[in-house]
Amino acid sequence: MKKWTTAAFRAAKGKQKLGCCTAYDACFARLADEAGVPCILVGDSMGMVVLGHETTLPVKMSETLSATAAVARAAKNALVVADMPFGSYQCGDDAAMANAVACLQAGADAVKLEGGARVCGLIKRMADAGIPVLAHVGMTPQSVNSYGGFKKQGKTREAAEAILADARAVQAAGAFAVTLECVPGELAAEITADLAIPTIGIGAGPACDAQWLVMHDLLGLNEGPVPSFAKPYAHLAETAKAAFAQYVAEVASGVFPPPGKGA
Ligand code: KIV
Repeated sequence: MKKWTTAAFRAAKGKQKLGCCTAYDACFARLADEAGVPCILVGDSMGMVVLGHETTLPVKMSETLSATAAVARAAKNALVVADMPFGSYQCGDDAAMANAVACLQAGADAVKLEGGARVCGLIKRMADAGIPVLAHVGMTPQSVNSYGGFKKQGKTREAAEAILADARAVQAAGAFAVTLECVPGELAAEITADLAIPTIGIGAGPACDAQWLVMHDLLGLNEGPVPSFAKPYAHLAETAKAAFAQYVAEVASGVFPPPGKGA
């Protein structure tokens, strides 16, 4: 297998549909990479699925850098994208540049940031500086407080036109791909046909060039409800819980460790 580059990712548009996912540590990044996942996002979803927050907003740059470094050490072929956390690029363009540079120095191949036309100046500055940018339009979870919840976007024709305009704007600014989150499938199809760069959908239907799944939804690692668009390909929460329970029971009953098995 060859290392995925942003150029290869772009070139796959129209030829190969790509199943991409998140990961936040070396252990799972290695498994995803060895299984052939072409692009691993060190998502700020880490705030919710790993760190136990209600939203992605509390994730810090230091947490993103530490997770990115771990994922990049393990992923030999996947394109590793660091998701810039809330506050790391809304704090002035110079600070945003420094934070994006830190992501690449931690081992990321590219950064992702949320927003359309309003972040185009920054996308252009990063792209011009050799920092590949994956854009993210539609439902952008860092704006949860403006939406009043994680809500599907682009439901009216006017809202759909605004998302299409955002997607065109990030492409013109130099993004190598764009995430479309929680938008109607017809709108995702329209944007995918309109753009020369790949779209990566999550809750955006089958027409996108690639798909994201949050690793915990893909592996069934959460016990709570999964988003309606997600498909669990395994049920690891049940398997892990049963293993923990058996271990506790075997220590209590003296089955583990067996006699004569000291280090
Ligand atoms: O943080 C994340 O996991 C994401 C995906 C939903 C694309 O941004």
